[in-house]
Amino acid sequence: MATSPSPSSTAVGGGGNAKIVWNESQNRFETEDKKAFLEYEVRNGGKVMDILHTFVPSSKRGQGLASHLCISALNHAKAHSMSVIPTCSYVSDTFLPRNPSWNSLVYAEDLKSSI
Ligand code: COA
Repeated sequence: MATSPSPSSTAVGGGGNAKIVWNESQNRFETEDKKAFLEYEVRNGGKVMDILHTFVPSSKRGQGLASHLCISALNHAKAHSMSVIPTCSYVSDTFLPRNPSWNSLVYAEDLKSSI
């Protein structure tokens, strides 16, 4: 399949009703209204995605939106052969234990960055 040049913000899906977009310039995966987001830092020369923070507005919590953000980010990491550091506690303590198939992507066995 042909691929188009990568714009700064690319629709990447995410499941459910929420459309998740990749905001490459701000290192985020976010909803179109930008109110819910997952923020990351790229480390080790592009080989590692350190997931720093996940945020969902209180009115939208408990509906799996954070997990859709995670799936978009982890799919991106997998597609780019990156491993993942789950610095964000939502990812390490909730998402990964509930979705253990993603554990194979975790860098150096749950190592968290010092941020
Ligand atoms: N760390 C780990 N798990 C958390 C959490 C946290 N700080 N806050 C909430 N959770 C868990 C809840 O226990 C909930 O479990 P339940 O399903 O048994 O009720 C689960 O996340 C909800 O999952 P989901 O619906 O996918 O998440 P969400 O869309 O409600 O968003 C947060 C979850 C954490 C992103 C949202 O509560 C938030 O923005 N909190 C404030 C910022 C924050 O603490 N971010 C995480 C640390 S960086």
